[in-house]
Amino acid sequence: MSHHLIKRLTSGERVFHWVNMISFITLALTGLGLYAKSFFWLTNVFGGVDLSRTIHHYVGLVFIVTTLALFAQWMKDYTAPGEDTLGSTISSYLDPDFKGPPAGKFNAGQKLFGYIAFLFGVVMAGTGVAMWFPFTLGRGLQQWMYFLHNFAFIVFGGILLIHIYLGTIGVPGTWRAMSRGTVTKEWARKNHGAWDGEEA
Ligand code: HEM
Repeated sequence: MSHHLIKRLTSGERVFHWVNMISFITLALTGLGLYAKSFFWLTNVFGGVDLSRTIHHYVGLVFIVTTLALFAQWMKDYTAPGEDTLGSTISSYLDPDFKGPPAGKFNAGQKLFGYIAFLFGVVMAGTGVAMWFPFTLGRGLQQWMYFLHNFAFIVFGGILLIHIYLGTIGVPGTWRAMSRGTVTKEWARKNHGAWDGEEA
């Protein structure tokens, strides 16, 4: 027991996020290899075109399950009332001395990101499963699935870069929530002043 640390994420929350994160990276790399000419070399890393496609399909199922699990486990935190706003979240990220309404366990930006990750995850998963069984769709509909799948990946990929930045170097001390499940009291006070986390 340390008086300096606070429990941030349970082992279950971390396991689902780790599996989701690794599956997303695998999907991005195999997907780029299969569908973007300049990344074709990536298919060799995964043992060729056929194996890349098989990996992309089955890891996609892992991504679907963990996306739903992450959303289900954090739903109560996304819907928890909070005084902070998206504007105050952005100001606090841009100016470390900004004094705005304190955030709860998740700030308004993290809540929004949670909904975006779920929504785009569902679109990528739904269009992906539809493309897996191409003969059940007409040609026009199948082309729409490809477009939506790629569009969702590009938009979500861009948003995810912001999440990765904030979760690692952007807000120092956040990554240990994912690596060890704990954060320091100073980190909690500074970034989530209205959150009443338990001591680790
Ligand atoms: C690829 C590298 C990634 C890194 C470095 C990363 C980092 C983190 C960290 C450190 C947290 C905890 C934040 C906190 O406790 O305040 C977190 C939470 C979260 N992650 Fe990730 N993550 C990554 C990928 C993903 C992916 C692929 C998704 C979804 C498809 C995702 C969805 C979420 C969500 C919804 C949360 C909770 C809300 C939030 O903190 O924004 N993450 N992530």
